[in-house]
Amino acid sequence: MAAFKPLIREILASGTPGETVEVQGWVRSRRDSKTVTFLMLNDGSNQVGLQVVADTTRFPEELIKAITTGAAVWAQGRLVESPGSGQKLEVQADALQLVGAADPQSYPLQKKGHSLDFLRTIPHLRLRTNTFGAVFRVRHHLSQAIHRFFDERGFVWLHTPIIAGSDAEGAGAMFRVTTLPVLPEQKPLEELLAEDFFGTEARLTVSGQLQAEAGALALSRVYTFGPTFRAENSNTTRHLAEFWMVEPEAAFFDLQDNIRLAEEFLKYLMRYVLERCPEDLAFLARHYQADLITRLQACLEASFARITYTDAIRLLESSGEAFEFKPQWGMDLQSEHEKYLAEKYFKGPVVVTDYPKDIKAFYMRQNGDGLTVAAMDILFPGIGEVIGGSQREERLEYLQQRMREMHIRSEELEWYLDLRRFGSVPHSGFGMGVERFLAYLTGMSNVRDVILSARTPKNIAF
Ligand code: 4AD
Ligand code: MG
Repeated sequence: MAAFKPLIREILASGTPGETVEVQGWVRSRRDSKTVTFLMLNDGSNQVGLQVVADTTRFPEELIKAITTGAAVWAQGRLVESPGSGQKLEVQADALQLVGAADPQSYPLQKKGHSLDFLRTIPHLRLRTNTFGAVFRVRHHLSQAIHRFFDERGFVWLHTPIIAGSDAEGAGAMFRVTTLPVLPEQKPLEELLAEDFFGTEARLTVSGQLQAEAGALALSRVYTFGPTFRAENSNTTRHLAEFWMVEPEAAFFDLQDNIRLAEEFLKYLMRYVLERCPEDLAFLARHYQADLITRLQACLEASFARITYTDAIRLLESSGEAFEFKPQWGMDLQSEHEKYLAEKYFKGPVVVTDYPKDIKAFYMRQNGDGLTVAAMDILFPGIGEVIGGSQREERLEYLQQRMREMHIRSEELEWYLDLRRFGSVPHSGFGMGVERFLAYLTGMSNVRDVILSARTPKNIAF
């Protein structure tokens, strides 16, 4: 079988001067001298691309004219050492073809240096910029690393459903899934739902955790990795209505095991991306966050700080900071509090444990004090909560009581209670927001810039 034509990354990795190669990609920039045109071709396989040098006297004038920024081009020629700076090799074109033109009058990326705000309006084209090439290559390697990490530790990848019946987080911020007409006839809700596709209310999942628990109580260690949906009406740099979450769940793991797994996991991912994506990280550091690489390396070396919620509140109270929300035991940590802890006080990731039960989900294991649960959140500088997790309540009576207290309808969750009726064991897990962690890894300050196309309130462009 014939091999595919090589990608630019492959040409640069194994090509030798004198060799004839074919190269194809999109013109990032073009420079002309009297008789020579220099085309920077990029096919997305690496950051730098490959320069194609065309002696204009050898090609029709119209062809040279039509090869503008954004155009797709095929070229064949000899690889030669590049006298220009930065590049090891370039191609001296013998044959040149315009594959797809890009009208310079209307191509939006004609010039470099567009703002991220502007690029967000053209998510289908921003992929062709150096920044988004780097972000999506890092995102790819991050995803590979996630699977490797769990595979190496005996975790089975479970594909949990996207369409869900109940609200696992009790967040009440779910999208409904329905085939009912947009303006249904007025009928009692029950009758209406009976006619709907599932014969009952259906929603997009906010988490695969509850199903993952069924998996863990059979396969011991599982993880789910997929899209998750939250209809929160928040317009922040950390919230998306559709985001990707990784959720491991392990039987016989207590909270300490869970924290250890999470720290090992995040460090493995950082190390993997530092090794695989040096060129892209260097580019992102140059343009977005000068200390990106040293910051990641420092994070790898130190142990994550740990503090209980109760101690964190004390620390915040005595910090002398002028917080907008006064820290008080019982409240959820606000983003200003998370910032203070991760950025000012600990200056790195911090694991906060044992939150008040009233601000956490019903399934978290109650501590002996009757006030707190075996929860843990991992906060990062710049982005706040990257991981949320807990040990799960494995005792049937405690779980049932908590569900009653929180007015959670148990009919829909009988299957979940069955997991406590038959062979229940201590178990734990967590969820990592892929975009939040990726924002930290790439130095991008908005999760909208690390996902293909952001779903946010009033925005579903592409
Ligand atoms: O803390 P959360 O809500 O936890 C859960 O869903 C648990 N069921 C996880 C588990 O224990 N298996 O969400 C987990 C993580 C957060 O720490 C955050 O990183 C991310 O998901 N996240 C979001 N990311 C982007 N946009 C949003 N709207 C997010 N909501 C949560
Ligand atoms: Mg959380």
